[in-house]
Amino acid sequence: MSKAGALDLASGVGGKIDKNEVLSAVDQYEKYHVFYGGEEEERKANYSDMVNKYYDLVTSFYEFGWGESFHFAPRWKGESLRESIKRHEHFLALQLGLKPGQKVLDVGCGIGGPLREISKFSSTSVTGLNNNEYQISRGKELNRITGVDKTCNFVKADFMKMPFPDNSFDAVYAIEATCHAPDAHGCYKEIHRVLKPGQCFAAYEWCMTDSFDPNNQEHQKLKAEIEIGDGLPDIRLTGKCLEALKQAGFEVIWEKDLAADSPVPWYLPLDTSHFSLSSFRLTTVGRFITRNMVKTLEYVGLAPKGSQRVQSFLEQAAEGLVGGGKKEIFTPMYFFLARKPLSDNL
Ligand SMILES: C[S@@+](CC[C@H](N)C(=O)[O-])C[C@H]1O[C@@H](n2cnc3c(N)ncnc32)[C@H](O)[C@@H]1O
Repeated sequence: MSKAGALDLASGVGGKIDKNEVLSAVDQYEKYHVFYGGEEEERKANYSDMVNKYYDLVTSFYEFGWGESFHFAPRWKGESLRESIKRHEHFLALQLGLKPGQKVLDVGCGIGGPLREISKFSSTSVTGLNNNEYQISRGKELNRITGVDKTCNFVKADFMKMPFPDNSFDAVYAIEATCHAPDAHGCYKEIHRVLKPGQCFAAYEWCMTDSFDPNNQEHQKLKAEIEIGDGLPDIRLTGKCLEALKQAGFEVIWEKDLAADSPVPWYLPLDTSHFSLSSFRLTTVGRFITRNMVKTLEYVGLAPKGSQRVQSFLEQAAEGLVGGGKKEIFTPMYFFLARKPLSDNL
């Protein structure tokens, strides 16, 4: 079971950061970003510190509001958010053509929601790679509870320098994770190295679309809100990801922004003009209750100082995501399926 209660949220804020250091970690995290004078080069040079601070601070909020899988999904009418999330995971497994017994790598696995679902769906052994110790400790506990701990494991490492030999995995996927990389080419090159020749890599990338105008101030503001609210150094254009994939040696089988065909917009759960009982905690009323609950828990000392600040940059993220989604300048589901050729001509 994911930790879904208010006290779980409160006690989890800060992850592995000492509870007395949470407020100063929030300060340090915010200073990386545009709204506090931060610069892209600084975020890229310190990506590991920035991203780890971010996930230590926000993971319990994510679990509280979203569940065990930390990603969006295209959605059909009549489908619940949870159902759409699972279907999005199954889609990836089907695209990769996963077969029972295969060894699969999940790059940037969060607390392992997708890893458990994909492993059960396809009878594969999935290794979750993640640089955040707190998320791995949560993931191990959830794997034990679900009973996939014999076939699936976690490795704590940076996806820019993976601790695996060349040609180790039958398939690799990444869900809304490689957007944290300071450089897409470096990250895809590592994925290419650890994947067996002839096998596939599939991902959902966070990207700015071709409608994004870098000279438009409103577009710039929305991009910066998503970056601060989601721990990102710089959101790349879809075309840049495609180029980086090819440069890393992949043959692209197909690619598409799946947001374009989603009957229900992916950002609907975050849109304050929308009400849903099944994702009540994300609605205006749900967020109002959470905000006041976090304020009270921080006041009485059950949540560390700085918790309310985390809640506010997450709300800023929600605004940026909904704004970026509505204007179609941003997508969290730029999908691609790419193959590592049998022989490398690089
Ligand atoms: C938005 S979460 C998505 C998690 C998971 N894929 C899911 O859908 O539930 C992004 C994940 O990428 C991981 N991550 C970010 N940068 C990383 C890095 N350099 N190396 C390994 N993992 C990283 C984070 O710790 C986090 O678990």
